[in-house]
Amino acid sequence: MHLLCIETTCDETAAAIVTDRLEVKSSVVASQDELHRRFGGVVPEIASRAHVERILPVVDEALRRAGLSLGDIGAVAVANTPGLAGSLLVGLVAAKTLALALDVPLVAVNHLHAHIYACRLESGEEVFPCVGLIVSGGHTSLYRCGGPLQFELLGTTIDDAAGEAFDKVAAMLRLPYPGGPSIEKAAEKGDPRAYCFPRALLDDETRLDFSFSGLKTAVRYQIAGPGRADFSQIELPPQQVADLAASFQEAAVDCLVGKASAALRQTGMKTLCVGGGVAANRRLRERLHQQAAREGFRLHVAPPRLCTDNAVMGAIAVERLGADLVEPLDLDVIPGVARMGSGLVLEK
Ligand code: KG4
Ligand code: ZN
Repeated sequence: MHLLCIETTCDETAAAIVTDRLEVKSSVVASQDELHRRFGGVVPEIASRAHVERILPVVDEALRRAGLSLGDIGAVAVANTPGLAGSLLVGLVAAKTLALALDVPLVAVNHLHAHIYACRLESGEEVFPCVGLIVSGGHTSLYRCGGPLQFELLGTTIDDAAGEAFDKVAAMLRLPYPGGPSIEKAAEKGDPRAYCFPRALLDDETRLDFSFSGLKTAVRYQIAGPGRADFSQIELPPQQVADLAASFQEAAVDCLVGKASAALRQTGMKTLCVGGGVAANRRLRERLHQQAAREGFRLHVAPPRLCTDNAVMGAIAVERLGADLVEPLDLDVIPGVARMGSGLVLEK
């Protein structure tokens, strides 16, 4: 059976065709980076309008690359939470319309759970039970994943997400958008020990939360000193930019690796699965592998093409279909960011 998966939670318009045996037949991702670059971040209204323009060509292209037509689709899956309200709505309306017209089941996908499921797809074998670490532009979260349909939130960031901190620090350093890859590139020539930035909450083993806003502010003070509101005129020498990028990246990676390790200790689990855009970061991947070798846990990090937003990871819908978890056509979006105690943590 072929599933059409649709993903429009933020600024990528994506569609993929996967089978119920988790074979990937096609994957199309239309990035909107060009549209948001001059604003230094995603502008929600621009994103939703771009999704409207792209969604049908992207679905068509996914079918074409798979050598299939709409009549071959047996179910439609769509990410309906979390994310930007307008963006989510475009994907959901397209998915509902197709499910109604084709008379096939509609399956809801939690975008964060799907980021973890990317590890299952890549490994080709069972990865559950595991601790799931999601590091993306909007989220930095740890989950206890009992199975592909059992996600219990253990901790989240209490302020900025890791990807958000990469993007904002890149903007301070006047590195191009999106900031994550730019910081990674600049850091290659930098000294990660040049500046000693804070590793918030890292000493508290009992707490599985993250905080990146103090780290971001520490970089800002290093560039301009406290109290200086506008530092857009400050020209930093390239080596200092590289050192700041490397030192920032190292501090962020320390927090991510340290808290993932603590979550494994606390839950007694032996497997760590890591997904989300920031998991594409080479330094983070390297440090996770070192930690896994040192502490003896099994590690699955999604491959870079499945770290940043894509529709292939929507294949988690296969698990829901298998458990008869299909949705009525009045399914709604649940926008926002999922934070501990935010009321937006809706796990089913
Ligand atoms: O998962 P994703 O594509 O979208 C969300 O669901 O948010 O993550 C996007 C985030 C952005 O903040 C981007 O800067 C970051 O992932 N990112 C990276 C890298 N590639 C993307 N951060 C650090 N290093 C990278 N190589
Ligand atoms: Zn994402």
